[in-house]
Amino acid sequence: MFWKRKKENTPILSDYSVLGVDLHSHLLPGLDDGARTMEDSLQIIAGLQSLGYRKIITTPHNQADFYVNSPEKIRASLETVRKALKENQIDIEIEAASEYYFDYDFLHKIQKKELLTFGNNYVLFELSPTLPPVNFESIVFELQVAGYRPVLAHPERYGYFHGPGKYRELTEKGILLQVNISSLSSHIASNIRNAAIKIVQENLASFAGSDTHNMANISIMKDLLSSPHVYRLLDSGVLMNAGL
Ligand SMILES: [Fe+2]
Repeated sequence: MFWKRKKENTPILSDYSVLGVDLHSHLLPGLDDGARTMEDSLQIIAGLQSLGYRKIITTPHNQADFYVNSPEKIRASLETVRKALKENQIDIEIEAASEYYFDYDFLHKIQKKELLTFGNNYVLFELSPTLPPVNFESIVFELQVAGYRPVLAHPERYGYFHGPGKYRELTEKGILLQVNISSLSSHIASNIRNAAIKIVQENLASFAGSDTHNMANISIMKDLLSSPHVYRLLDSGVLMNAGL
């Protein structure tokens, strides 16, 4: 990672190579609301590579009755993308896990031990942005007892966690927080952005994710290289992206 300096001495990142690995994106063609075609996938993956990433762990949605993506379906799609990357001489490492929605089916998947994980048995999951989850603690506990390590996607988006001390409480329960880099953009709703800033300032994020769905996200990420909040996040010393 190279550093440049602006006139006023604010550090600016040249790219995201200090992270190296992205763990949250929607790049398998047609599996969810991300890349629609293989052409989309290749373009977006090349975009992430140009931002300095050397490895991508892509995470198609899994939501009961809406995005039904079995491990087999995800693995098969990953192989087609790997083949296309090779054919198009895009040299980047890519793996797949999933972003699980916290619904009745999530518990079934835990019990059947059929969750797609990344790294050290990490499971990426998301919650409803508006309704506080029911049985949250007991389901997280089941997840942990089954040997999984919960990683909460974009915790800044959940208004019911915006109260004082809530994020620290989550981390004390063994839940790792994955902030979306794009949540630090000034184009994001201020309550979400402020929550993301708070997580960054308190050094509570274990992972920074791109949550890339399309090329617009790549362009936002590029603009955010000059953000002091993104600098602070990447410079926090507590992120675990690089080790994935
Ligand atoms: Fe996502």
